[in-house]
Amino acid sequence: MSSNRGKWSSNLGFIIATAGSAIGLGNIWKFPAKVANGGGGAFIIIYFAIVFTLGASLMLTEMSLGRHTQKNAVSAFSVLNPKWKFVGFIGILAAFIVLSYYGVVGGWVFKYATVYLTGANFRGDAVSYYFNFIESPFAPIFFQIIFMLLNVLIVIRGVSGGIEKANRLLMPALFVLLAILLFCTLSLPDAERGISYLCSFDFTKITPDVLLSALGQALFSLSIGLGTTCTYASYLSKKENLPKNVGVICLLDTVVALMAAFIIIPAVFSANVPLSEGGSFAFTALPAVFESMPASNFFGATFYVLLSFAALTSSISLLEAVVAYATEHFKISRIRATIVSASLMTVCGIFYSLSKGAVNLHGFWYTLRDGLTYPILGDVFERICDYLLIPLGSLGFCIFVGHIWGDKNAISEIEQGGKIKFRLKTLWAVTVKYIAPLAIAIIMFLGFRGNLNL
Ligand code: PHE
Repeated sequence: MSSNRGKWSSNLGFIIATAGSAIGLGNIWKFPAKVANGGGGAFIIIYFAIVFTLGASLMLTEMSLGRHTQKNAVSAFSVLNPKWKFVGFIGILAAFIVLSYYGVVGGWVFKYATVYLTGANFRGDAVSYYFNFIESPFAPIFFQIIFMLLNVLIVIRGVSGGIEKANRLLMPALFVLLAILLFCTLSLPDAERGISYLCSFDFTKITPDVLLSALGQALFSLSIGLGTTCTYASYLSKKENLPKNVGVICLLDTVVALMAAFIIIPAVFSANVPLSEGGSFAFTALPAVFESMPASNFFGATFYVLLSFAALTSSISLLEAVVAYATEHFKISRIRATIVSASLMTVCGIFYSLSKGAVNLHGFWYTLRDGLTYPILGDVFERICDYLLIPLGSLGFCIFVGHIWGDKNAISEIEQGGKIKFRLKTLWAVTVKYIAPLAIAIIMFLGFRGNLNL
């Protein structure tokens, strides 16, 4: 049964790959924009508090289930209680949809990296360049396909031969590039204005919405609720210390988010670009920032290559969650499962991409505040994941582990007959059984009311 499943070559391989999954576009593209809009340092403090309490507890929840069952995210539930396998399905469905659009944004990142690497630039009009590009029918799809092909080439080679190897190469490179950029932006003229914004603590900006948006960001950034962490942990040996691994991964994820904020915000201040660019920040504001710098192509290329690495190490975990399920459920080879699932996701992603402007494609969405609305399809994809599937998956994992499989069983998996000491077990059990489900239920309710902007 599980004899031909993959295995990490070591605990370090697992940590690097799981940190690679966590560290992604969320850290470098979304986090700094949220800090900018959420009161600078105040948001950072709240975010850290959430990561190291709720976030870490939820990550441990997923890991303990995956490592215990040594199965894909759906079977992990069904071997313990078949009635609950729908939670695994929610996770796999979320991984499928997230990767279908993550692949498109990954393609945009590739495109921007090639622009700078070939010595070109945006001639001072990054905003219209961005919209012309994402609204054109073919170019974004071309880069999306390249991005997805790379995912396939990695995942097809298996857990240690593909995923672990790619992460061992890309993650150290990512840290080196981050350190170079950090050094360069902090020495820009006027960088102090950005730094002092990051070190200012305007807690009046921390409204309940900002708080919940920080929680949503923590779930997404730590890769919680989609079954990826559960799948990765299913390839981990029983002798490893899960709470320690969780601590290291949360720390790495947070350090990268913080470095990204300290790179982007001082650079943006220094170039006098408005801070509130929302989601397209990395593609509109930043090129303007780079162009105002000396050696703009060097900065631009370094940044988008870095973002490509971050995107790739996350997307392969999403693909692996789906592939692990497909191989084990349909009893097909890894090669076949990888090609078929990546192709299906690419097709879905093409609709996401086209809906950005090339074709008039709309879906529908309901909130209490606005009633039934018809946003573009791409936005519906993101809302389904952010407001529905990811919170629902996370809620399912904690209710299942806390109450159905049971916190005692999970703790005995974590402690491995006393070989590993888990000091915070009581706190963890209370968090997973009561606090986390309540917090997630509140996010879902606010999302449904329509006043949450994750
Ligand atoms: N954590 C990744 C990021 O920050 C995204 C992701 C979510 C990856 C869920 C895998 C699973 O971009």
